[in-house]
Amino acid sequence: MLNKQSSELSGLIRQSDYEHIYESLNQQGTVLNREVELITKSGIKRTALFSAEKIMIGKEMCLLLVSQDITEKKRLEKEMARLERLDLIGQMAAGIGHEIRNPMTTVRGYLQYISKKDKYADEVETFQLMIEELDRANEIITEYLSLSQDRVVDFKRINLNTIIQHLYPILSVHTKMEDKSIELNLGSLPDLYLDKKEMCQLILNLVRNGLEAMPVKGRLTISTYRQQGNVILEVEDQGRGIPNEIKDKVGTPFFTTKLNGTGLGMAICYSIAGRHNALIDFQSGPQGTKVRVKFQGAEETKA
Ligand SMILES: Nc1ncnc2c1ncn2[C@@H]1O[C@H](COP(=O)(O)OP(=O)(O)OP(=O)(O)O)[C@@H](O)[C@H]1O
Ligand SMILES: [Mg+2]
Repeated sequence: MLNKQSSELSGLIRQSDYEHIYESLNQQGTVLNREVELITKSGIKRTALFSAEKIMIGKEMCLLLVSQDITEKKRLEKEMARLERLDLIGQMAAGIGHEIRNPMTTVRGYLQYISKKDKYADEVETFQLMIEELDRANEIITEYLSLSQDRVVDFKRINLNTIIQHLYPILSVHTKMEDKSIELNLGSLPDLYLDKKEMCQLILNLVRNGLEAMPVKGRLTISTYRQQGNVILEVEDQGRGIPNEIKDKVGTPFFTTKLNGTGLGMAICYSIAGRHNALIDFQSGPQGTKVRVKFQGAEETKA
């Protein structure tokens, strides 16, 4: 706010904020910690706490303006709130998952036992179907459990590229079956402390979303590189993109636009990223979507 005329304010902030500040200054001569959205010269939106006070310098009435940039603080708060919500679902799943799994295991065992009896020989397929449905329910419980922040993780020093290369054969079989392609673009990376299983789950969820968004012949690219002391993992698709009106909802548990989606894929990715001190963001347009996972301060864990 240094070297700015008070009249310049109206071009920097929203009209409603400007009016509020103007009125408070007129009535009380002061504004304290009003949260406002500022647009920077380069057109980027930032959030700031804004205070102003009328003061006399000599005989001249002046305005003392102080603004504190709280954009990063707000982003962190939003991220924390998201993780807390996910954690709550994970905790609930942990509470009831055990109680549900035990009877399910018993039912599964009996189904398997009965299906082997001669008198049910004609019903083998039905039994198989029932067992598969139980297994699917079990998998969903496992997914819910992975939303819990205090879930036991097994961090080991490993290279992210090794995990991707290990997954590549399965991924390329899937993409070929759908008449799509997958490309790797892996830069040299330091080893990180990662839970291998969780990383596989994260990559698979992102890849699955990319594939589901793309028409046939679409290409999916997985890239890794270093950027300012961070390690970046990017999954880019040539799909239809994420419409603006749902961008904020992606990652909210059970939010899905798909007929058979559970809407847990991205929520799980955010939860896994949280446990790995990583941040997720995405850019999306009609040409496709690029999801970026940023492992912060990754260079510090280098040998
Ligand atoms: N790469 C993408 N391209 C377009 N839309 C996407 C992409 N990734 C996510 N979305 C949107 O975000 C929604 C939520 O994604 P998420 O992975 O959490 O759930 P889902 O894919 O619908 O179901 P699930 O992953 O549980 O099977 C999707 O339904 C889709 O609308
Ligand atoms: Mg998904």
